[in-house]
Amino acid sequence: MGIVGYVGHRNALPIVIEALKRLEYRGYDSSGCGIIHDGKLQIYKKTGKIVELERSLPEPNSCDGNVAIGHTRWATHGGPTEINSHPHADCTGTLAVVHNGIIDNYQLLKQRLEKLGHIFKSDTDTEVIAHLIEQYRKTTDNIEDAIREALKAIEGTYGLVVISEDDPDRLFCVRKGSPIIIGVSEKEMFVTSDVNAIVSHTSRVVYLQDHEMAVISKDGMNITTMDKTHVDPLISTVDWDISAIDKGEYKHFMLKEIFEQPTTIANGFRTRINEELCTARLGGLNLPMSELRKIKQIHLVACGTSYHAAMIGKYMIEDMARIPVYADIASEYRYRNPIIPDDTLVFVISQSGETADTLAALREVKAKGANVLGITNVVGSTIARETDGGTYIHAGSEIGVASTKAFTSQVTILTLLSILLARQRSLNPIQGYEYINELKKIPEKIEEILKKNDKIRKIAASIKDSTNALYLGRGINYPVALEGALKLKEISYIHAEGYPAAEVKHGPIALIDEHMPVVAIATHDALFEKVYTNLQEVKARGAKLIIITTKETPELREIAEHLICIPDTLSNLQPLLNVIPLQLLAYHVADLRNLDVDQPRNLAKSVTVD
Ligand code: M6R
Repeated sequence: MGIVGYVGHRNALPIVIEALKRLEYRGYDSSGCGIIHDGKLQIYKKTGKIVELERSLPEPNSCDGNVAIGHTRWATHGGPTEINSHPHADCTGTLAVVHNGIIDNYQLLKQRLEKLGHIFKSDTDTEVIAHLIEQYRKTTDNIEDAIREALKAIEGTYGLVVISEDDPDRLFCVRKGSPIIIGVSEKEMFVTSDVNAIVSHTSRVVYLQDHEMAVISKDGMNITTMDKTHVDPLISTVDWDISAIDKGEYKHFMLKEIFEQPTTIANGFRTRINEELCTARLGGLNLPMSELRKIKQIHLVACGTSYHAAMIGKYMIEDMARIPVYADIASEYRYRNPIIPDDTLVFVISQSGETADTLAALREVKAKGANVLGITNVVGSTIARETDGGTYIHAGSEIGVASTKAFTSQVTILTLLSILLARQRSLNPIQGYEYINELKKIPEKIEEILKKNDKIRKIAASIKDSTNALYLGRGINYPVALEGALKLKEISYIHAEGYPAAEVKHGPIALIDEHMPVVAIATHDALFEKVYTNLQEVKARGAKLIIITTKETPELREIAEHLICIPDTLSNLQPLLNVIPLQLLAYHVADLRNLDVDQPRNLAKSVTVD
């Protein structure tokens, strides 16, 4: 879901449409916009991509104006229909809202408003906001106060922008739990839920805090709290490379982002290595070394791909620093009343920094009085701001819905954390040096793997019509198998499962026949012989084996349909290499199936709802 708004001296709709296109990756089942044209509010909506909305707009001279809002939707309440698209208007059609978040008590509010005579058009929770403001408008002098009153009645989360004929030169922006960012420029102001939408216009932004309202006009902004206390805006500069939001020579963002990984991984570790002491430095943790030494337990909490990075972190930290680590899915962690003893370090990991479940887990940790650190990509995101410290992965904008470069950057940061914690404990300088030295070689080794792109496309062609696939790995490569399977299923819609290789014989082996591709990670670490035995077991049941390995041996050639041979490294760093062919394989399968790789069905780049 994405919000945009413009107020200034230029024609607003083309700016809003362009900004919506930049946000399409956040949700793309329908979109809409509202503009004040000749003093009247006009609303346009369309299902499908933003380009459909753009095509449906009337001639420019009948929809021009200087104040507009827009929204791209990922359906939560109510199906992906035109009626359910934002903006949602009140009964009079003179006021409309775009909203990210969830209104928990919307059914109750809707019933009350219906009793008062309000007519609802959509099935959404958002529409109650417009009618509530309309209701309060009857008893208050101005729209701003009506919004304040309406928000008092609302339970839930929102990033909200209101446009109204009553106050046609201004936009009203509010947040509680869902980001709202104001972009500041000369004689024009922007509003968005994601800075990507507006960086082509301005790099000067204000991150609205929860329970704040910004009223923006072409001449500036006025920020107040809900009890009308004035807030001085804190203007930050966004250091965002605009080229990152173009596909360049690549067919899809996902492919571009896969190929960026040598650079993004290097960006993650470049300034964070202490060569002299053979350790890592992560200043953003805001913890003195003496405190870090006391850590007895670590929790790594995340969703989706970020959770797979957390699982790899668990294997690495436990092996290198001998500290017990619990990797947890945020949506489970937040509700299971986690036990957080003293001397526990909690990290939440999130590319977007906005994932609702991860944010809720963060808040739960804080409610228990514990410190929580973040590993995030998006600078200034809610998670980055609410954590007590942490580290940015510096992967740059990730547009493809399937996370690739953020994953390897998260693993890079977790590697640095493992080195840092391990050097304080049992890792000696020579071992520390070895890790650092190998980490520095990862980018060039990934370049080597990327050269196999064509070969991997051919392998993808051989499995593109499958209906199921199994991904196997053991030890630290088990989460890599999970990640490979997630990549395949989310963009190719082929059902895929990741499994610990030895566990297959306890059930899933029953699924295997000659139609089931099995993608196995069999790199030459301490578990290689064990994995090989497991692969023979599945081969004996007719599986078509695609094996990722570091040495092309006759024994592997004998059982593999396809072998992908990649460089080796220390076994704790091997996931950084092993995941690359799996990303490419998933990409090519989806592309060969002519699917929308960057914007797969039913998904959104960041899931800002429970
Ligand atoms: O922004 P986050 O890292 O918090 O997102 C977590 C997941 O929603 C995300 O990794 C998702 O699983 C991706 N689509 C996977 O490619």
